[in-house]
Amino acid sequence: MINKRETPIELSKYEFQKIGYHLIDQIADFISTIEKRPVTTGETPEQLQQILGVSSLPENGTTAGSIISKAADLLLNHSLLNGHPKFLGYITSSAAPAGALADLLASAVNPNVGAGILSPMATEIEKQTVQWLAELIGVSPSYGGILVSGGNMANFTAFLAARTAKATGDIKKDGIPNSSGKMMIYCSKTTHTWIEKAAALFGHGTESIRWIPTDSANKMDNLILEGTIKNDLAQGFKPFIIIGTAGDVSTGAVDDFEGIAAICKRYDLWFHIDGAYGVPAAVVPEFKKIFEGIRQADSIALDPHKWLYSPLEAGCTLVKNAKHLTDTYSSHPVYYNFDGKETHAQNFYEYGLQNSRGFRALKVWVTLQQVGRKGYETMINEDIKLSKMLFRLAEEHPELEAVTQNLSITTLRYVPAAMDQDRGDTESYLNTLNESLLNELQLRGEVFLSNAVVNKKYCLRACIVNFRTSPRDIEEIIEIIVREGKKMHEKLWKMAFV
Ligand SMILES: Cc1ncc(COP(=O)(O)O)c(C=O)c1O
Repeated sequence: MINKRETPIELSKYEFQKIGYHLIDQIADFISTIEKRPVTTGETPEQLQQILGVSSLPENGTTAGSIISKAADLLLNHSLLNGHPKFLGYITSSAAPAGALADLLASAVNPNVGAGILSPMATEIEKQTVQWLAELIGVSPSYGGILVSGGNMANFTAFLAARTAKATGDIKKDGIPNSSGKMMIYCSKTTHTWIEKAAALFGHGTESIRWIPTDSANKMDNLILEGTIKNDLAQGFKPFIIIGTAGDVSTGAVDDFEGIAAICKRYDLWFHIDGAYGVPAAVVPEFKKIFEGIRQADSIALDPHKWLYSPLEAGCTLVKNAKHLTDTYSSHPVYYNFDGKETHAQNFYEYGLQNSRGFRALKVWVTLQQVGRKGYETMINEDIKLSKMLFRLAEEHPELEAVTQNLSITTLRYVPAAMDQDRGDTESYLNTLNESLLNELQLRGEVFLSNAVVNKKYCLRACIVNFRTSPRDIEEIIEIIVREGKKMHEKLWKMAFV
């Protein structure tokens, strides 16, 4: 009788150790030299395809060691390095090295965190992670929640719970009402694109979104918000949710949550906060004031893979009353024996959209303990100070215009010293110049920034969610922008007039 199968997928203990130790050495070397590498190699998709090699699916297997070694070479030497100290693009953080080790452990044990019985310890760790995240941002630890893949999913998960809670009938049975009693959504015009996806995909349609204008500080205008709600009620619509943003994606502005909470109370609406980027800043005492009102939120989305420096993917939905999640997501097919009549285990499949679920909570749980609340307070505060420094240096530089600064996001643009202010198309030229400059910077590999359009100005945008960035990097980034801005201006000017 065969008692051990020979398969092409198993690794012996010795092989696993040999490949693993070598890989860990390569990763340790990569992390310790990251600041000496280019942020990106700027290779084209065609060049990358050549390096990867064109081939069809292998008929027969090969050794794991050689494949892992090839994968390490491809990724360590041909990637955009968002762990580089001068990567300040979009909202993608430097990832905690301990998070990478946690991911390895999570996938080695491979618990299915869809059901308690399938992942006994992992489920308890995820519950604790959710509680700690609530404590970190200063809401009640009794908020329930779930780890998801990122900000979009965290917001979707809350959005669906909100409409189950606020629909007039039984939405799970009857679906959403359409023309009569149409359910309306309220958010600032700067809200991240997830809301358009949610409205389109979950059957509301993007016409159900009321995009509320912002004030001079880029916050949702709560007077216009309330007026719009009243108007919709008068027309027979059914407002059901207001979305406030804690750190908008372009400028980092934080809405007035006290004001939004009061409106939600007056009209019996669900109060959701998209804090995917900015809500961790609530851990910094000096910033407590701008987050006042978050404790009144019915739900909050936050992203450990942004400002808590977790490796991708890790988002989290927190809900004041977790029953709204189970009301929305729970189902009990006969083929699930998960109800734990004696054990009362929590089944995360009843808290969100996924059924089988990986153990993404582990890397967050590990890092929350490695750093501690105090450590996060310090790192986040330092990121904010660096962002302020960037803004100040841009203000002081004769060829830069500092445009906005909130939380750890600064927007600025290059303005050549010798601009002919009388030319009628100055603004459109500056927009073209800064867009071309950004494209050039993104390929050069010295620094990686992204863009924002603020009051029709095309700006370079730096978002510091990076524990490796130092004051020296900020000074050098200013020099790089000015040096490359000058060059781009000369190039465009020549193209136009020579
Ligand atoms: C405010 C805000 N909400 C939601 C998201 C979406 O997050 P993710 O890309 O993790 O899905 C982002 C991403 O930058 C964001 O800034």
